[in-house]
Amino acid sequence: MIRFRNWLPADLPAAVFYWNRAFADRRNFFPIDERDFRDRVVANRHGEEAFDPAGFQIATDGAEWVGFAHAGRRANRGYLAFLHVREPHRRHGVGGALFDLCLSYLAGTDEVFVDGQCFNPYYGNVQGPFIPFWGTPEGISVPQGDREALAFLERRGFVPRFEAVTMERAPADSPVLGEKGEGNATFRSYVNACPALGSRPDDLVPHARFDRHIAWAAVVGERVAGRVIAYSMERARSGLWGIYDLEVEEVARGSGLGMALVRRALDSLAALRVETCEVLTIPALSPAAYRVYERLGFGVAVRWAIF
Ligand SMILES: CC(C)(COP(=O)(O)OP(=O)(O)OC[C@H]1O[C@@H](n2cnc3c(N)ncnc32)[C@H](O)[C@@H]1OP(=O)(O)O)[C@@H](O)C(=O)NCCC(=O)NCCS
Repeated sequence: MIRFRNWLPADLPAAVFYWNRAFADRRNFFPIDERDFRDRVVANRHGEEAFDPAGFQIATDGAEWVGFAHAGRRANRGYLAFLHVREPHRRHGVGGALFDLCLSYLAGTDEVFVDGQCFNPYYGNVQGPFIPFWGTPEGISVPQGDREALAFLERRGFVPRFEAVTMERAPADSPVLGEKGEGNATFRSYVNACPALGSRPDDLVPHARFDRHIAWAAVVGERVAGRVIAYSMERARSGLWGIYDLEVEEVARGSGLGMALVRRALDSLAALRVETCEVLTIPALSPAAYRVYERLGFGVAVRWAIF
């Protein structure tokens, strides 16, 4: 008989067992351990958000977890961080019941959204350049081909707003063509550190957690006008790195800095003998980023639904 209850501290081994069994075939999966799940989920505090056991619903059959859902609050907004039911237990109302428990927990919030992208502090990497539990270089998402999950959410009123794409290329591939000028910028690289956009090149961003990473800054007049970070995703696959953050200050956009930064990051990755570099973009939200990666030879690998 299926029962529902909230997270208990003794659940940690069951959570890790569930995770490693349920998601082994997902893109960029790696086997997690208890420390991973504890540090990133149940002991996680991100800004005003902290893990709340009352928002974590578990469906059990005897001692075994058959599904779980994780909801949270961000100011007046409620969000669904994760929802999953194991294949043998689907189509019996377990997911719907977990979803309803999440909505009850979120009663009183102004709106509820499905948090499938870069903002998810638990299963994604909003806190720094480190590998998400699986999915994109920024976090878990619903693959466009997952008709069952998409239909489940649509029946409950959640329709994707955007399509995100994972793009990838081999850093050592043929030289990049069509370079623009680089204006009067000078470029600086950093190892396991990253400067803050708009500040001086020695003002570094304190990341709460990170995997090995390199960053490049475009400096114009002692100010960081643009920067990009590439980080190791080698826990998922040897030779795999991801791009975490590419941004150019608004006043400096359109003059080739974005392209120049990614080109330098690719050169560094080629020197490190990285085999594949991937990045997540949302073409409708950031057509310029999509253009930069397309021009630099990145191709579309996977498409994701963003709610
Ligand atoms: C993406 C970003 C870093 C690009 O920086 P940039 O210095 O302006 O980039 P470049 O000047 O090197 O190249 C921009 C390219 O995008 C193109 N572009 C600019 N705006 C565009 C638009 N609305 N639609 C399509 N292409 C566009 C430019 O024409 C240029 O391509 P071209 O050389 O073929 O003409 C910058 O727009 C940015 O910081 N955006 C906000 C943060 C962001 O979206 N980051 C990426 C998250 S995935």
